[in-house]
Amino acid sequence: MKVCIVGASGKLGRYMVQHALDRGYEVVGVCREKSVGKLDEFKDKMTILPGSTNDRELIKKAVEGCDGVLTVLVPWGIQQYSSGTAQAVLDFAKQDARLIFSCGWHITRDGKDAYSTFFKIMLSVFGSIGRLFRAVELDDQVEACDRIFKSDTKWTVVRGSDLEEGESQGLPVWSHHVQDPILESNKTRRIDFALFMVDAMVKDDLIQEAPAIVGCQTPSALKHGS
Ligand SMILES: NC(=O)c1ccc[n+]([C@@H]2O[C@H](COP(=O)([O-])OP(=O)(O)OC[C@H]3O[C@@H](n4cnc5c(N)ncnc54)[C@H](OP(=O)(O)O)[C@@H]3O)[C@@H](O)[C@H]2O)c1
Repeated sequence: MKVCIVGASGKLGRYMVQHALDRGYEVVGVCREKSVGKLDEFKDKMTILPGSTNDRELIKKAVEGCDGVLTVLVPWGIQQYSSGTAQAVLDFAKQDARLIFSCGWHITRDGKDAYSTFFKIMLSVFGSIGRLFRAVELDDQVEACDRIFKSDTKWTVVRGSDLEEGESQGLPVWSHHVQDPILESNKTRRIDFALFMVDAMVKDDLIQEAPAIVGCQTPSALKHGS
């Protein structure tokens, strides 16, 4: 299996590289030129293509022949970074490739996610400050996901809860809407978010789904998981 990881140098990206290599996959990673050094520990085990993740020619080359593409959708930067990246992956990946994208709980596929007032305030503050400093484009991550949801490719959009570092606890559990009781703990280890992304490539039941995930050892998962 050959996989491309777009945004490989970030924290989530590096965990995904490790999980993919652990499974014996051939890995191609895309990351910003200035971040190539963050992949030093893997440089002899993978192919690294430096450049902007919304560079269409670069993505075309990176996804060529890949059975799976794992994309870290980031709201950072302006200039439609997320939507540009997503569109390039949708346009150039093999027709039957599994396309897995990461985002947060603020993305809703069907509008039926119910958010707490605290969550809505935090999102609004983060978005406003980000826009003020021209550093964050949350709306563009929404646009990226809308394009993915409308696509007829084999996509999965994995919606992460609040993240923490730590040893793996195993594959997170998931549900359709963020208010579902199993998700109440709102915490996932980043290493396990990455595990879910990599594992999703071989899960047909996740095709064209937008699972919201939570750590499998969290209180809500233990209470409501079956
Ligand atoms: N953080 C959370 O609590 C949280 C919660 C739920 C879901 N998520 C989702 O999890 C995924 C990973 O997020 P993360 O917070 O864990 O971060 P992360 O894995 O460290 O990834 C950050 C990514 O953003 C890139 N980046 C940073 N600044 C950029 C800029 N100005 N222009 C372009 N790219 C830039 C980084 O590339 P370089 O390596 O080149 O810097 C890296 O690939 C995202 O899809 C996010 O929506 C995060």
